[in-house]
This record gives sequence, C-alpha cells and structure tokens, in this order.
Amino acid sequence: MNKRKIWFRLLAAVSSAFIIYALVKNFIIDPDAAAFLGYKTGLKRELKLPQWLNVMYVHVVFACLAMAAGLLNFSNRIFEKSRKFHRINGYIYLLSVLIVILTSGYMAPYATGGKISSMGFNALNILWMIITTIAFVQIKRKQIVKHRNWMIRSYAFCFTNMMIHLITTLFHYGFNMSYPSSYTVGIYGAIALLLIIAEIVVRTIDRFQGNAGTARQA
Ligand code: HEM
Repeated sequence: MNKRKIWFRLLAAVSSAFIIYALVKNFIIDPDAAAFLGYKTGLKRELKLPQWLNVMYVHVVFACLAMAAGLLNFSNRIFEKSRKFHRINGYIYLLSVLIVILTSGYMAPYATGGKISSMGFNALNILWMIITTIAFVQIKRKQIVKHRNWMIRSYAFCFTNMMIHLITTLFHYGFNMSYPSSYTVGIYGAIALLLIIAEIVVRTIDRFQGNAGTARQA
C-alpha cells in the first residue's frame, strides 16, 4: 500500500470515528447539551433553549455531512470511477458548509467564554466562507491543483469542534484553567492549528508530486 493510501485511510478512520462520536453524543447521550450548557454563565443575551437546541442539531448534522462529503471527494478511486459523483458530492459539501456557517452565526453570540469567543467564531465563519469560495472558484477556472489545495484548507475546518475540545480539555484538566477560558483558547488555538496543519499537508503533497500544476492527487 502506498503512503498516500495509508494517509487517506487514517483520515477516513479519524473522520468516521468523530462523525459517530458527534452523532451519538449529541443525539443519544446528551441531547439536551446539559453538560455543555452548564458552563454558560453570565450570558449577555437570553438563550432560548428549544431554539438553540434545534439550531445545534441542524449544525451537528450538516457538520457531519460536510465531514463525510469532503472525505469522499479526497478519494482518488471514487474520483476516477465517477466524476459526476465528485461534482454532486462537491455541491453537497458546499451546501453543508453554508448551513454550518449559518447555524454557527446563530450560536456565536451565546458562545461559551463570552464576547472574545463569539469574535473567534465569527472570524472563523468568515475565513471558512472565503477559503471554500476560493476552492469553488478555482475549479470553475479549471485550476485543479489550486482547487485541491484550497479544498484541503477548507476541509481542515471540519475538524474545528474536535480540535476545540482537545485544546479545551488540555487547558481545563491539564493546566487547571476554567472551562470557559479554556474554550476560548480552544477556539483561537483550533483556527491557528488547523490552518497550519492544512498548510503542511498542501506543501508536503506539492513537494512529493513536484507539482507543475496539472496532476491531480487526492
Ligand atoms: C464536524 C464539524 C463540527 C461539529 C461536529 C460541530 C458540533 C458542534 C456541537 C456539538 C456544538 C455544541 C457544543 C460543543 O460540543 O462544543 C457546537 C457548537 C458550536 N459550533 Fe460547531 N461543530 C463543527 C464545526 C463547526 C465550525 C466549522 C464552526 C464555525 C465555522 C462551528 C461553530 C460553532 C459555534 C459558534 C458553536 C456554539 C459554541 C458555544 O455555544 O459556545 N462549528 N458545534
């Protein structure tokens, strides 16, 4: 098995495990988000619980769909079998990202950690929208390598929730920081780390391919 296949399988394993975890946790184990909402104190705006929960459910479902659709479109085998599937699935990814951004926009003002957290989420929303739009524009211009690279950057943000919780757990339990402050660190840390990781992946693939700008690799 070549290295690219091994990396793809690893990505598939992490993404699938997280999708299952997110669905089980938010729809079966803690559908009222009681544990998470327990950390929200001193909110400046009144949180309307039923509305917030419904938006959160839509958010989780489309975030998982974006994660799954994005993953499938990085598979070379699927791409070679059916370009039509790649295209339709690409539009499913775009629509899912848009819905995640819209639902995130609703939840951001109530974010755990207060105003600084809200600003982080809003920045992330704008950044993700721009990066995903660039990826779309590049494929419309038939710039395949550029499209792939921007899609790698866009897809990285599907791991936002996972990264936020990893960093929050580290700061909260590892360094004894309060949960809301750890969550704020998690948001900014996730944005920085996901951008850096995506950049490393893009550059590594480019270096291995000695890219002249035409070959497609996923
Ligand atoms: C696969 C990706 C994602 C999943 C599974 C996911 C899931 C969740 C879940 C379960 C929550 C409830 C609280 C928590 O557990 O943190 C949440 C909250 C939130 N998510 Fe996401 N999310 C994802 C990606 C994103 C992205 C990319 C953004 C921003 C562009 C975002 C913005 C938000 C916001 C603003 C909140 C509210 C935070 C708060 O109330 O403190 N999420 N998300």
